[in-house]
Amino acid sequence: MLKEIFEQPTTIYDCLRGRLDAAAGTITMAGIQQYADQIINANRIVIIACGTSWHAGLVAEYIIEDLCRINVEVEYASEFRYRNPVINKGDVIIAISQSGETADTLVAIESAKEKGAIILGVVNVVGSSISRASHAGAYTHAGPEISVASTKAFTAQLTVLMMIALKVGYMKGTLSSDRYRRLLNELDAVPEKAAWVLNHHDHIKAIAEKYKDARDFLYLGRGYNFAIALEGALKLKEISYIHAEGYPAAEMKHGPIALVDENLPVVFVATKDMYHEKVVSNMQEIKARKGKLLAVITEGDEMSKSICDDVMIVPETDEVIAPLINVIPLQLLSYYIGVAKGCNVDMPRNLAKSVTVE
Ligand code: AGP
Repeated sequence: MLKEIFEQPTTIYDCLRGRLDAAAGTITMAGIQQYADQIINANRIVIIACGTSWHAGLVAEYIIEDLCRINVEVEYASEFRYRNPVINKGDVIIAISQSGETADTLVAIESAKEKGAIILGVVNVVGSSISRASHAGAYTHAGPEISVASTKAFTAQLTVLMMIALKVGYMKGTLSSDRYRRLLNELDAVPEKAAWVLNHHDHIKAIAEKYKDARDFLYLGRGYNFAIALEGALKLKEISYIHAEGYPAAEMKHGPIALVDENLPVVFVATKDMYHEKVVSNMQEIKARKGKLLAVITEGDEMSKSICDDVMIVPETDEVIAPLINVIPLQLLSYYIGVAKGCNVDMPRNLAKSVTVE
């Protein structure tokens, strides 16, 4: 798992290579190009996935709606396949899967295909069942992911989904050329920024030692970072068997805040974005209730640092691109907590790498 976490600057670079040309201002994705008109004119996009791949879909929902102004729904494949979803001809389905063999996702796309939907696969394993069942799509090129907990496949999925959103938004005219160029440059700079975060792993290891005996964790984030809070909680559960929940930060006052006491670590994904002020006030509410406050924050954000017990610092980037970097310290935190507790982080109990059964 650690090897795969540390490969991310390379895997993100490999995913961008040959597709994104920041100097020329172009994104080349043959599979997407082929269905560009249908995507641009789609009435809605339905994203189908499970687990970590579903979290990538949730980030994509926020980005595609923002940049492309297309209605997006994100569905758990296991729910989608058994309920009777409304699929209209011309709906575009994006199926996200590392393995390309997840049974729930595969069956869900087969049934959407029968109803006339266009299926785009965002898949890591070349030639896998989901890639073959899709009309087109884009491989994530993360290389083999062996560890059960998905890390580098997740950031590669986000990279592909961000490129799709940028390309479609620009072609559709909902994304201005200035912002498009700025986002291309930011995406291009991610491998370097991811390496910067990984170089600070010792600090995160020390934080893990401090909190490894907690019984529960709460992860909170808003907007683009809401799904990163969910992913942080999932990773911790899988690897350390500590109970962890992820919530949209503003939702905590509707229930989860009752859990907060001096024993509960609350991890905020609190990088600088349009929600930042509100997230800081959510952090203050936790502090007032004596919760242990941890946060992923932007380099130079001294204010957030001053109210937290511990911080994991990431370099500044555009808020649309930030989830791609913000998840990395949370992967490391889970990893080091799992190791400190003596867990088999590469093969956690009860889990399989690809879930090919219902
Ligand atoms: C991720 O850490 C998990 N082990 C799991 O949630 C996984 O993402 C899910 O089973 C989906 O797998 P897929 O991406 O191969 O379809």
